[in-house]
Amino acid sequence: GPVQGGGCGETAIAASIASKTKTKKKHFVAQKVKLFRASDPLLSVLMWGVNHSINELSHVQIPIMLMPDDFKAYSKIKVDNHLFNKENMPSHFKFKEYCPLVFRNLRERFGIDDQDFSNSLTRSAPLNSEAQGRSGARFHTSYDKRYVIKTISSEDVAEMHNILKKYHQFIVECHGNTLLPQFLGMYRLTVDGDETYMIVTRNVFSHRLSVYKKYDLKGSTVAREASDKEKAKELPTYKDNDFINDGQKIYIDEENKKMFLEKLRKDVEFLAQLKLMDYSLLVGIHDVERAEQEEVESEDNEAEEEGESDGGGVGTPPDSPSNTLDSTKPLPPGEFDPAIDVYAIKSNDSAPRKEIYFMAVIDILQHYDAKKKAAHAAKTVKHGAGAEISTVNPEQYSKRFYDFITTILS
Ligand SMILES: *[C@@H]1O[C@H](CO)[C@@H](O)[C@H](O)[C@H]1NC(C)=O
Ligand SMILES: *[C@@H]1O[C@H](CO)[C@@H](O)[C@H](O)[C@H]1NC(C)=O
Repeated sequence: GPVQGGGCGETAIAASIASKTKTKKKHFVAQKVKLFRASDPLLSVLMWGVNHSINELSHVQIPIMLMPDDFKAYSKIKVDNHLFNKENMPSHFKFKEYCPLVFRNLRERFGIDDQDFSNSLTRSAPLNSEAQGRSGARFHTSYDKRYVIKTISSEDVAEMHNILKKYHQFIVECHGNTLLPQFLGMYRLTVDGDETYMIVTRNVFSHRLSVYKKYDLKGSTVAREASDKEKAKELPTYKDNDFINDGQKIYIDEENKKMFLEKLRKDVEFLAQLKLMDYSLLVGIHDVERAEQEEVESEDNEAEEEGESDGGGVGTPPDSPSNTLDSTKPLPPGEFDPAIDVYAIKSNDSAPRKEIYFMAVIDILQHYDAKKKAAHAAKTVKHGAGAEISTVNPEQYSKRFYDFITTILS
């Protein structure tokens, strides 16, 4: 039947975001009802919040330039909609978006249309994803795999605020042409009194070309190999020593290599300036032939499964990815759209296999001072006050990192 619109309670919107409380009655045809159906209430709230935020922003004029206050601003909304969409949404929740105008500006600079962004995150529930970085963090990708949603700590949120202005400036200066994470939105979700922070970035890997091998490289060889537990996973994250011991090669031609290293050099200089360290280069490898083979096999499986069922009753859900994917022409195997798979580089002519590499810098929010403090605390416990701290500094880290990446590309 008809669905009652969500009664939005207290709406506190900072900065220049106009706020409106809507209690429209909606008369949907049942099929078309767009519910935020996610098995995890947090994801339902994220979907709701992104839809809300992008809609609100579409009514806010794009300013000529961002103001210092925009880098501290936030918008928040508290919702008590116990009657609406009860099965899928928690009855009370809060959604806070940090620096909405700044992130909108960043999305634009990274060539991402706000409506497309909202669609990617809300047409269907985000998917659970194996960790792409530091352990402990929870990862999802948007259903269309274009974006990565990472659960972060409140310290990370504070660090983002610390660096956001300089990061934005850097993105302006390099015209979005960087290997650093593309930060696209940062949110706080409150459900049952628990606060969860999330940040959305562009997926380093392709939304359609599968990766069969991946590495997390730091340029350090100390304790840098995948554990047996990690290796047992479907797509383990291998590390520096694995890369060396595997004799892994990245076959890219001189021009791509030059462009890549030039970007990387600027990026790590910037990170060192900000005193950030412990970041990694995430490397994913797509093998064109292998992927074609796998596709044939999975098509065979699908055909078998269809043959087994009697074909009745299993309707496609109204918002399933299959009928919402945009109508861009299918690309031949191993081809990609460089506007979407921005980190992709093709293997060169002398490569033994046709491959596509996806390489970008991840996990940049670790600050030297925080790390030093933690290390110091640990050492003080162990060795007493005044013990030497032997961590490399951000400058040394960036040099070692860059040098290592240079060697793996030649
Ligand atoms: C998405 O936002 C629009 C505008 O605020 C609203 O009309 C619509 O109902 C929202 N969608 C859902 C499923 O809540
Ligand atoms: C391809 O990449 C490999 C590995 O980096 C390199 O040794 C080789 O010279 C490259 N060949 C061409 C044609 O660029």
